[in-house]
Amino acid sequence: MTRLIIDCDPGHDDAMAILYAARHLNLIALTTVFGNTSLQNATRNALAICALAGLDVPVAAGMSEPLVAARSTAADIHGHSGLDGATLPEPTRAPDPRHAVQLIIDEARAHPGELTLAPIGPLTNIAVALKTEPRLAHWLKGITWMGGSTTVGNITAMAEFNAYCDPEAAAVVFASGVPIHMAGLNVTRQAGIGPEHLAQLAATGGPVGRCFAGLLGFYLARTREIFGLTHASMHDPCALLPLIRPDLITHQPAPVHIELASAQLRGMTACDLRRVNAESARTVHPNARANAQVAVAIDGPAAVDHVIRTLLGYDERAAQPAGC
Ligand code: RIB
Ligand code: CA
Repeated sequence: MTRLIIDCDPGHDDAMAILYAARHLNLIALTTVFGNTSLQNATRNALAICALAGLDVPVAAGMSEPLVAARSTAADIHGHSGLDGATLPEPTRAPDPRHAVQLIIDEARAHPGELTLAPIGPLTNIAVALKTEPRLAHWLKGITWMGGSTTVGNITAMAEFNAYCDPEAAAVVFASGVPIHMAGLNVTRQAGIGPEHLAQLAATGGPVGRCFAGLLGFYLARTREIFGLTHASMHDPCALLPLIRPDLITHQPAPVHIELASAQLRGMTACDLRRVNAESARTVHPNARANAQVAVAIDGPAAVDHVIRTLLGYDERAAQPAGC
């Protein structure tokens, strides 16, 4: 079974992705990065999520700043803690003593061809790992990233938040040659969390359902206030669909260019979906060849339903009398 490391910046949708992956995949570690909140908050939040779900996987802290850009934050959506809306359990253990970059390299070296990385925040840790150990590009089985967009952005008109936070890091990763699946806003915005899902979670009466009802209630309220939407996008779990429910998401090979220079378009993921012949004169060099599998379609409601049912399962199992 694929060995998986989630690189995250929890983050409400990150928290959903962690519990989703833990139930369906061989999740072997979490690594944390700045993004929605500070690295310190992201690491504490990741440990608290593990305590809530009873996950005993190492959590290693990574980069606290982008390679070049000034640090962004999404406190307006996720709150000052990065996970406002509920009181999570206190972490029951300390972070892994290794830096996230070292943990990733160690795991890939020990299991060449078996490790998939699921970055669901800025790509800074992944880029630094690839630069620190160039053989990593050959050891990794693949990368499945929530980030970018084939259409419009969210943090700016044309840039998605994870790409915008560290576009130089994204450029390093997309030039690495590692097989990449990219789930951008064009599909994640079709996976909407609504009041009906909060009601399902609250109705379990168990700790995971109650906690996520509070967390997602906050996330939904902020989304409504800022974007005027009735549903909040379930961004990060969509990166796991190729591994868990590939029937719910469709990808297309495409050249993806990360814009670095333009003040207005910096962080944009320019995805060439034209399917032109890479040898033709109509390609834009140097990205004439596809460097990623880009998500172009999704069954959003079915994806949200599968993730919510997975979260509900944590309390159902906990409620089972011992020996079931
Ligand atoms: O643009 C959405 C992404 O930014 C998600 O990963 C969310 O958690 C935030 O990090
Ligand atoms: Ca995230």
